[in-house]
Amino acid sequence: MVLDDLYQEILLDHYKNPRNRGVLEQPDVHLDAKNPFCGDEITIDFTFDGNRIKDIRFQGEGCVISQASVSLLTESVKGKTIEEAQAVVEQFTKLIKGEIDALDPELEELMAMQGVSAYPTRVKCALLAWNTLKKALSDYKQKDKVNHA
Ligand code: FES
Repeated sequence: MVLDDLYQEILLDHYKNPRNRGVLEQPDVHLDAKNPFCGDEITIDFTFDGNRIKDIRFQGEGCVISQASVSLLTESVKGKTIEEAQAVVEQFTKLIKGEIDALDPELEELMAMQGVSAYPTRVKCALLAWNTLKKALSDYKQKDKVNHA
């Protein structure tokens, strides 16, 4: 239970003191995510340096789960290559769906969201930003391939 309290504290901290909050002047990618069932909304801006996520900012309104989740997302993919970020998204998605119960050690902070896997109705809330990011990364990779063809 001590662990649960710690995790709850991490989530509340991200909710109250969101990391990487704001907008980017000239983003390479701008994402809009909305959960029509809950009304939660998130926008995320990215800039890329070649294949690497150089900077990332988000804005959003909604519950602790969706907002803490996107704050954690920004921290965990900033500075990563597209492939590395895709691997993080894949692991996190499996964790929230209850398909795995551990993450790579460097993703330890994301374990704070694991409790959501026990509440199927909240899984979509936790994955709102992540599902959008997943699509954006593959779209960007595709576009980049076309530009370099
Ligand atoms: Fe926040 Fe579902 S209640 S996204």
